Amino acid sequence: MCGIVGYVGKKQASSILIEGLRKLEYRGYDSAGVAIIDNGVLSVTKCKGRLANLEAQLLEEPLKGNVGIGHTRWATHGKPSDENSHPHTNEKGTISVVHNGIIENYIHLREWLMAKGYKFISETDSEVIPHLIDFYYDGDIVDAVMKTVTKMEGSYAIAVVTSNEPDKLVAVRKDSPLIVGLGKDEFYIASDIPAVLNHTREVYLLEDKEFVVISNDGIKLLDAEGKTINKEIFHVTWDAEAAEKGGYEHFMLKEIHEQPKAIRDTMTSRIVLGEPITLDDINITKDQIKNLNKIYIVACGTAYNAGVVGKYVIEKLARIPVELDIASEFKYRDPIMDKNTLMIVISQSGETADTMSALRLAKSKGSRVIAVTNVVGSAASREADDVLYTWAGPEIAVASTKAYVTQLIAMYIIALFFAQNKETLSHEEIEEIKIAMMELPEKAEEVLKNKETVQKFTAKTYMHKDMFFIGRGLDYAVALEGSLKLKEISYIHSDAYPAGELKHGPIALMEDGTIVIALATQEAIFDKMVSNIKELATRGAKVFAFAPEGHTEIEKSVFSVTYIPKVMDILAPVISVIPLQLLAYYMAIQKGCDVDKPRNLAKSVTVE
Ligand code: M6R
Repeated sequence: MCGIVGYVGKKQASSILIEGLRKLEYRGYDSAGVAIIDNGVLSVTKCKGRLANLEAQLLEEPLKGNVGIGHTRWATHGKPSDENSHPHTNEKGTISVVHNGIIENYIHLREWLMAKGYKFISETDSEVIPHLIDFYYDGDIVDAVMKTVTKMEGSYAIAVVTSNEPDKLVAVRKDSPLIVGLGKDEFYIASDIPAVLNHTREVYLLEDKEFVVISNDGIKLLDAEGKTINKEIFHVTWDAEAAEKGGYEHFMLKEIHEQPKAIRDTMTSRIVLGEPITLDDINITKDQIKNLNKIYIVACGTAYNAGVVGKYVIEKLARIPVELDIASEFKYRDPIMDKNTLMIVISQSGETADTMSALRLAKSKGSRVIAVTNVVGSAASREADDVLYTWAGPEIAVASTKAYVTQLIAMYIIALFFAQNKETLSHEEIEEIKIAMMELPEKAEEVLKNKETVQKFTAKTYMHKDMFFIGRGLDYAVALEGSLKLKEISYIHSDAYPAGELKHGPIALMEDGTIVIALATQEAIFDKMVSNIKELATRGAKVFAFAPEGHTEIEKSVFSVTYIPKVMDILAPVISVIPLQLLAYYMAIQKGCDVDKPRNLAKSVTVE
């Protein structure tokens, strides 16, 4: 997804913009550019490809100046190309704009502007913005931007500079993230906090239709009517290290290793032995919980896979029916909801467009929404009635790992919170689960120490084109996530199946050498799972199994096995997913793939 950075201060904008854009690379991009003002002259350098291309151009022809905007683009309208890259400018070359989002009525605006003589050079929706600003510009850039956004439908975070008012930067957002970094006599804007962390920890989190005007005189925040607004400064507590690779070869590997801490952090102050579960930002009452007729869990990708576990544990522990939906499908199926229906959206970024649409639909039907998100101040956290933050810290690798395990922890916390309020579990039963949860960080550390069998297996199998993941119950939920991880970063095709379903079709694909990754962590159905594994092994499949310590009998039926520490059955996904993340990681490494930035994928998908 696009990344925006802006700077007004006394330093050279160019290097600050590039550094900020680099911190936003995880959002995914196909081109990059900057616009910088020097002595009243606006200059733009932009090109297709990685940031290194842009840097090379800037090295050849440096851009001086202390005011500027930068952008990394992830193509939506128009292919990745130099022309389609941002910043876009008006014909006179006096106004430059970077944009994140989609202008839904851009065709209409384009035709309207063309009828007035404006010429377009790109295929983008974004190019209408500088022309509209040009049309409205009458000596006041703030006024022109304000008039422009009233004509724009869709989602946007935009930043604008003009050589006519050379010390000024104007930015505004709607349904796309934008933050303002407050330095000493210098200011930053960015799509996300990591872009400014090297410079400041004090930020404003802009809300929809809030404008920021930065100049040498200081900073002003305005509402859509142009009235000054006051905002609380948000102090970022992440250390700068947390947004760097910290010694690991890839962000993904670092984030896999951060999971014990992320699990612990997410439980902090929520899972306390002997004390009832109280959740700071969740205000749903006991009566409202008792009256719930149904819960919808709605999410995308990995967050959806966490929802599969959520459905299972909420139904099991709190005895409330749960429906699970892929967010992009939800609004097209006329869901049955009322004020006694609860929606839980799960979203690492809290900005995923499909998930946000589902959230808004639920609210329009009078249903309450709990957001489980990792990003403070994200759209989901602002628009939901209740929020449960996963304290995973910033997740940079496109493939989600530590966010997933913290989403699982969030599901257990919510399930226990409901069970406590509905009294579907006794105090002792809740305490027993809490004790087991508190052991998870240590068990996760243990799994991380034992990578060899996974590494050896990947070295022998990475050249395969297809693999299968199987499991029963919660193991099937983890199989879905293992399969998604493998596809995303190693580009090996894989499917996940409930093990009992194989004989209803997919077993036809089993032949000599077919690779099957089997999860057999659930004590209650272990024997059933072993029978399924045997069915596959007799047809020539090479089965790589994950089983709880002590179950050595599985060795007879499989090609290779990794033992994982014993945990309570319902908590097993938190532990068993870790070797699957490592499996995907080492497969990708063997194949020489770009682990942190897999092809065609973006970290935050803010378009439907
Ligand atoms: O930010 P979100 O959790 O809403 O993102 C949802 C998916 O786009 C995300 O989980 C995606 O599937 C990841 N690439 C998974 O690794």
